[in-house]
Amino acid sequence: MITYKMDTENVDWQEVHDILHEAGLSDFSPEEQKVIFTHSTITVFAMDGAKIVGVARALSDTLSQGAIFNVAVRPAYQGLGVGTNMISRVLEKLKGQNVIIYTSPAGVSFYERFGFRRCKTSMCLFAGAPEHLQMLENGGFMLPEGFRFDGEPSRKV
Ligand SMILES: CC(C)(COP(=O)(O)OP(=O)(O)OC[C@H]1O[C@@H](n2cnc3c(N)ncnc32)[C@H](O)[C@@H]1OP(=O)(O)O)[C@@H](O)C(=O)NCCC(=O)NCCS
Repeated sequence: MITYKMDTENVDWQEVHDILHEAGLSDFSPEEQKVIFTHSTITVFAMDGAKIVGVARALSDTLSQGAIFNVAVRPAYQGLGVGTNMISRVLEKLKGQNVIIYTSPAGVSFYERFGFRRCKTSMCLFAGAPEHLQMLENGGFMLPEGFRFDGEPSRKV
């Protein structure tokens, strides 16, 4: 049976690192993942016994705005409802707040199931080297620099 732990006590940060690394979502070290998750407002760890099989976290001002990050389930546990259960728990904590998320192209229809809609003007200032930004663009996460939808005014220079 999968259980859902919402605190950061006794978490194996190596496992958190491995899950996020394997999903291609984050390359921070286990020590850095500890900093990242313990400074998050909401965390959830899906547990199969003592083993972590899924993670998710959110930042929130607790009243109006929240943002979800680092949602991943170990491949062997995908398609079993673990991702849905983690997001449901995070959204329960963020009830009444606007919630943003940026996801991979593959994640779009997953989040639509919870009522998320794509936004036309959301913008991200990603940290990282030019190669990393190019990877995000090639992977379909980010539109090309200066991109405009049809009918929008072009960029002022
Ligand atoms: C995306 C992810 C978190 C979903 O978790 P999960 O535990 O596999 O999802 P669930 O089992 O709760 O799936 C719920 C439904 O969404 C569907 N679904 C799962 N992943 C999906 C995806 N990437 N795209 C579209 N639908 C997806 C499932 O088929 C399932 O549908 P069903 O109820 O009709 O069978 C997980 O597949 C994952 O970690 N993927 C790798 C990392 C990633 O791509 N993350 C994207 C978010 S940043």
